[in-house]
Amino acid sequence: MEQKVKRIGVLTSGGDAPGMNAAIRAVARTALGLGIDCIGIRRGWNGLISSDFIKLTTSSVSHIINRGGTLLYTARSEEFRTTAGLDKALATCKLLGLDAIVAVGGDGTFRGALDLSRRASEVGYQLQVAGIPATIDNDIGCSNYTIGFDTACNTAVECIDKLRDTMQSHERCSVVEVMGRHAGYLALYVGLSVGATAVLIPEHELDFERDIVEKIRRARLAGTTHYMVVVAEGVGSAIEIGDRIHEAVGIDPRVTVLGHIQRGGAPTARDRETASRMGYEAVKAIVSNQGNCVVATKEGRMVVIEMEEALKMTKTFEMDRYRILEALTNNNYAEIG
Ligand code: F6P
Repeated sequence: MEQKVKRIGVLTSGGDAPGMNAAIRAVARTALGLGIDCIGIRRGWNGLISSDFIKLTTSSVSHIINRGGTLLYTARSEEFRTTAGLDKALATCKLLGLDAIVAVGGDGTFRGALDLSRRASEVGYQLQVAGIPATIDNDIGCSNYTIGFDTACNTAVECIDKLRDTMQSHERCSVVEVMGRHAGYLALYVGLSVGATAVLIPEHELDFERDIVEKIRRARLAGTTHYMVVVAEGVGSAIEIGDRIHEAVGIDPRVTVLGHIQRGGAPTARDRETASRMGYEAVKAIVSNQGNCVVATKEGRMVVIEMEEALKMTKTFEMDRYRILEALTNNNYAEIG
């Protein structure tokens, strides 16, 4: 049965990503423009459990489109994984009269949303949920792009450009660890953008000799006197990799772990624009009773995918980019001349 949507909740959950604020703003303003109330749930699913919320108005979401982090705070919730936690969260939904929730985050956030909506049906409460993909890892199966990725790439590139200046001056090797516990998208895009000597990603099994030592040797033969090795967090400790390079090649690498700096900062135009469109489409999907769904990007277009389907989707890692990186660095100097 069609449901008239009167009040929507919005929350951010999991690791924050630049552009989340732009998504919150878009959800709130689209809803308010349609005469729907918008409630900001604070601290992710925990906020729904503990009734931690604020009313969002057009002006309360002003001047946040340009800000990193999330106005609503974020968290990971263990309690929300339990039926008792879901029931507490539903009690808040009832208290607030929420017809729908827009959850901005990653796969874990969407799984939580789906569990909540299923539990709601079991107890006879109608609740739509819509997901907006946001993570600097860009590792959500259903969406080509996730909010925050572009900003994180640009932040890492800016840092590495600075490192390169000093590495070049001292003719050193730099080992830089970028985020990505399970995914190498960030490392690969960043590596390609800085012209790294080698990039190590979890999707490509590491052969130390082939993937690092040989590449540094080739670069050296090609006349390079500084080397940039970009390591995705999921591959292992950059410090250990630095030590192994020292033993194998006899150089003394400097190791930099970029860490959480990659999650902060003003979102790029791409992240603001994507977040604004996704927020708008999420509310539109709810209003047309299309929840439960995820708003995703497919070849630059916005698509609305049924949430259960979306959670089953997997992404094929773009190994072609890895090959391009290899072709463009001087690793293949002998072949390309
Ligand atoms: O948000 C994704 C991510 O940044 C991963 O790349 C990283 O492994 C993880 O979050 C770290 O999360 P936290 O420090 O918040 O536990």
